[in-house]
Amino acid sequence: MAVLKIRVLPDPVLRQKARRVNSIDNSIRRLVNDMMDTMHSSSGVGLAAPQIGISLRVVVVEVPEESALVLINPEIIRKEGVRSLTEACLSVPGYQGELERAVKVKVKAQNLQGKEIRIRGEELLAQALEHEIDHLNGTLYIDHIKSPDELQKVDVEGEERYI
Ligand code: CO
Repeated sequence: MAVLKIRVLPDPVLRQKARRVNSIDNSIRRLVNDMMDTMHSSSGVGLAAPQIGISLRVVVVEVPEESALVLINPEIIRKEGVRSLTEACLSVPGYQGELERAVKVKVKAQNLQGKEIRIRGEELLAQALEHEIDHLNGTLYIDHIKSPDELQKVDVEGEERYI
C-alpha cells in the first residue's frame, strides 16, 4: 500500500478516456488500496485512477459517515434534478468553481469481487459520483463552468472539500 502523487493539470493523463477493467486481479486490488491510501492522505472524498496516473476505469468514493465505495467500470444510468454548487478537485489545486450537478444519481458498476452493483447517491455522494466518473472520461469540473468568473482562487489550506 502506498500514498501516490496526485496528478494535476496540465498532466495529459487527466484528459484521456480511461480503459475498462476486464479482470479484477491483484494489480487492480493493489491499485484500489493505493487509491484509498492516497484519498485518505489528501482531504478528498473521492479519487479516480487517472488522478494517480493510471488510465483505468476505477473510482473510490468515501463521503463522511458512509462506508467507502470501490467502483470498477462505473456508469451513470440515471440523473434527477439540477442544483448549483461549489466544487473543487485534487487535480486542480487552489481553485473552486460554481457549476450545476444532478440532485440524485444512480450508478451501475462492479465491486472488487466483480459483482454488478447499483448505487444511488444524493447530495455530496451524487456530486462525488458524477465528478469521479467524469474523470474517467477525461472531463474536469472546470469544463462544466459557464464562465471564467465562476472559477475562483482559494486558499489550499481552506475548508473546501476536494473531490
Ligand atoms: Co477531481
